[in-house]
Amino acid sequence: MGILDQFDLTGEAAIITGAGSGLGQQMALALADAGCDVVGVGRRAEPLEETGALIRAKGRRYLACPGTDVTDSAQVNAMVERAIAEMGRISVLINNAGLGGSGRGKTLPELTDEDWHSGIESNLYSAFYCSRAVVTHMVEHGGGRIINITSGWGFRGGRNNFMYAIAKGGVIQLTKALAMTYARDNIRCTCIAPGLFPHTDDPAALAQLAEKQPAGRTGEMWEIGPLAVFLSSAASDYVSGDTILIDGGAIAAGITPAGLVPVAEG
Ligand SMILES: NC(=O)c1ccc[n+]([C@@H]2O[C@H](COP(=O)([O-])OP(=O)(O)OC[C@H]3O[C@@H](n4cnc5c(N)ncnc54)[C@H](OP(=O)(O)O)[C@@H]3O)[C@@H](O)[C@H]2O)c1
Repeated sequence: MGILDQFDLTGEAAIITGAGSGLGQQMALALADAGCDVVGVGRRAEPLEETGALIRAKGRRYLACPGTDVTDSAQVNAMVERAIAEMGRISVLINNAGLGGSGRGKTLPELTDEDWHSGIESNLYSAFYCSRAVVTHMVEHGGGRIINITSGWGFRGGRNNFMYAIAKGGVIQLTKALAMTYARDNIRCTCIAPGLFPHTDDPAALAQLAEKQPAGRTGEMWEIGPLAVFLSSAASDYVSGDTILIDGGAIAAGITPAGLVPVAEG
């Protein structure tokens, strides 16, 4: 097999949560470029349809599953059942949906039960529910690949950033537990830890953020796509349980991104 053939996803189908925006949309487009059909999952219909139009234009099949809150296991189970029924076989799951900033900046005594539940459920329960819903199907069909999305905060302690850091750390451990448990079922589980991928096009804001990064720039959303294709494909068949950073050296720069002083983060 030629080297580029190892990245070919023709005939495969992937469930991608949060596929309507940001990194999730870019991973969906990249997988589609590699030949994969896509099931886009989220709560809002419009962004999922925008992604769908782009994917169908590439000649791939696309199923939108709006109205799916990934913090609700019944909704997740129904979504996976529908995805399998319509796509036939799901070989890739990307647990990308997440919520930054829940309760961020509040001190520990100020945090409400609601802040705690919302931060942990959206970033950690979501990946657990989706993985649980799809794993039996993958075992029965000879294997699959599960890719979780964590954050640099999964490695760092966050000052007054409790739920995001705790949940994203849990996502790294979920990755290892899935990889170990299902290694002999040919299910690989890996994790991507993105650095700073801003949602703004504002040059002044980007320049300010870039200044603090070791590479002198922030990530561009499309840059996550090739890594997602690699981890979804046969090219990475001996990679499992690991978390791969894509952060321009931010974690290598120290415990916090270069230039960020912990006390100023709150
Ligand atoms: N951007 C970064 O710099 C960065 C850095 C490190 C890690 N990450 C991680 O990367 C992932 C994607 O981030 P992003 O920046 O691309 O975020 P984003 O643009 O805000 O996208 C998040 C997506 O997840 C969906 N979502 C959120 N909560 C959901 C829920 N309860 N049920 C179903 N869908 C839900 C949203 O769709 P609906 O609102 O329609 O449901 C949205 O499409 C997240 O896990 C984030 O923590 C991002």
